[in-house]
Amino acid sequence: MADEASIETESSHESRDPLVAADNEASMRVLLRLWPWLRPYRGYLIFMLVVATAAMIVQSIVPLVTARLIDGPIARHDTAGMYPLVGVALLFGVAEALLFAIRRRAMTFSALAIESDLRRDFYEGLQRLPVSFHDRWPSGQLLSRVTADLSTLRRFVGFMAVFFVANIVVIVVILAMLVRLHPVLGLSVLVAMLPLVVGARYYERRYNAEARRAQDLNGDLATSVEESVLGIRVIKSFGRRAELLRTFTGDSDRLRRAELSKNTTLAQFWTLIGTYPQLILAGVTFFGIVAVSRHSLSTGELVAFITLQLRLNWPLMSMGWLMAGTEEAVAATARLFEVFDSVNDITDPAEPVALPTALPTGQPGARLSFEGVAFRFPGATVDTLSHVDLDIEPGETMALVGATGAGKTVLTSLVSRLHDVTAGVIRIDGRPITELALDELRACVSVAFEDPTLFSASVRENIALGRPAAADAEIAEAIEIAQAGFVYDLPYGVHTRVGEQGLSLSGGQRQRLAVARAVLGRPRILVLDDPLSALDVHTEAQVEQGLRRVLVTTTALIVAHRASTVLLADRVALLDGGRIVAVGRHRDLLASNRLYRELLSQAPAVA
Ligand SMILES: Nc1ncnc2c1ncn2[C@@H]1O[C@H](COP(=O)(O)OP(=O)(O)O)[C@@H](O)[C@H]1O
Ligand SMILES: [Mg+2]
Repeated sequence: MADEASIETESSHESRDPLVAADNEASMRVLLRLWPWLRPYRGYLIFMLVVATAAMIVQSIVPLVTARLIDGPIARHDTAGMYPLVGVALLFGVAEALLFAIRRRAMTFSALAIESDLRRDFYEGLQRLPVSFHDRWPSGQLLSRVTADLSTLRRFVGFMAVFFVANIVVIVVILAMLVRLHPVLGLSVLVAMLPLVVGARYYERRYNAEARRAQDLNGDLATSVEESVLGIRVIKSFGRRAELLRTFTGDSDRLRRAELSKNTTLAQFWTLIGTYPQLILAGVTFFGIVAVSRHSLSTGELVAFITLQLRLNWPLMSMGWLMAGTEEAVAATARLFEVFDSVNDITDPAEPVALPTALPTGQPGARLSFEGVAFRFPGATVDTLSHVDLDIEPGETMALVGATGAGKTVLTSLVSRLHDVTAGVIRIDGRPITELALDELRACVSVAFEDPTLFSASVRENIALGRPAAADAEIAEAIEIAQAGFVYDLPYGVHTRVGEQGLSLSGGQRQRLAVARAVLGRPRILVLDDPLSALDVHTEAQVEQGLRRVLVTTTALIVAHRASTVLLADRVALLDGGRIVAVGRHRDLLASNRLYRELLSQAPAVA
């Protein structure tokens, strides 16, 4: 039973995570793609490499000085002859310490700089990518994985890559010294050491897999806790406490076992590290003494040999760890580049045309027309929208009515090119929107979405999102139009922080801020996707009163469910099954169209 459950957890992790696919195909070559980010710091990186290698080589030379000391002054009982050699050893020691300190500084600096460059470019990449990309990728996974991937890369670039190279150099240098001191014994040491590398690598892999699993389980537990805290009302009222506790206990137990096996692996690894080199040391000492007695090795050389051999332990064992780190870095890089490589098909035209300059205030907004517009989601088999023809006159307000799932939200998202049409063309003042610069298009079209998102920022910053330079008077006007006067009663007025990290607002309050954001600066085209759905009838009427003032001059497309919102519009377009099936005045449609009557029947018709 427990096993079944754990299998289930594992497979659900895979299916949940589209990023895992990247791990399989990654090869070392992927790392080369990091070069553009490394290049600005290449001087540092080469410097680090040289310094790290130098420090390790200096460290390896010291035993040779010791050998001289033993075979020379010590064997001859020559105190005076000792000083120069001791001086040299001391000098090496100081040099090593200095090089070590320098390398650490250089590493930290460049690794952090590279990480922050990558992070910035990644963020920019995410922002640049179209909505369709974000539809496909779960945002939580994307962000959590990416923070982990970036720190993996930082560790790799700043530490592992350097030691990978430095280690190889040092292993070669030390082996060369050992072979020079005593060829047979030197080569035997090399052969005897190999199992250590293999063993270290084996434990490394095992540990990584276990650590990954523990981390996933940890994430699951955190999610359970978060969900049960956020959903406490639902859980209590549906009497789900006992059941949830059982699930939680199960998860928690799996985590405990995962942590346990992680520690078992570690314990075995340290046993290997603790004992195996001792065996080699015993062998080296034994055969070394034999060699000394046969005069193929001097006493000093034997001491040097043993010391050097001991210095080989860490570089060799850490190769397993470095190889694992390299693999992780390869996977992390592959995942980053999945995002960098995702093509953004919604881009600025090569030669953008300009809209006619904004007309003096009080003049009508722009004309918005849809000509034979169709839209299909990537991978879908049927069109979500098809044959959409709609012409909205300058200054006209068009309501968009349709059943849930009819495609209203999709249609509104086409206007600011959050998605691009699959066929047909959308024009603003006669210009196809694909010929406008994206910035100009989005400055001209102002949108309030169904689900109003507030960012962790002040009320004012949230309203002025699209026009940070807006004057206080404009903000105040937008607040008034949207009937969002409640913001003045917040603890710090318009400077109160809202959103995820701030004060949480009710659905209706957030909708009104979204409306204020959309109407700020009197855009030429206003697109409102059911902006008043969470408002009570009284507040709704007030917001409509405010909106009326804006709608006189602005061209607007307003998704509406209630007759009261529809009444804001000059004409209504009825969307059904992805097509515009009727366009006309509210009164006429009520009289002539059964679907329209049905859709609006729940709401009291005031007309
Ligand atoms: N990201 C998406 N991928 C695939 N299909 C989608 C996506 N978003 C919406 N749809 C589908 O498109 C259709 C229209 O959705 P939408 O425009 O949101 O309807 P509504 O009229 O309620 O606003 C629905 O059938 C919906 O399931
Ligand atoms: Mg919708």
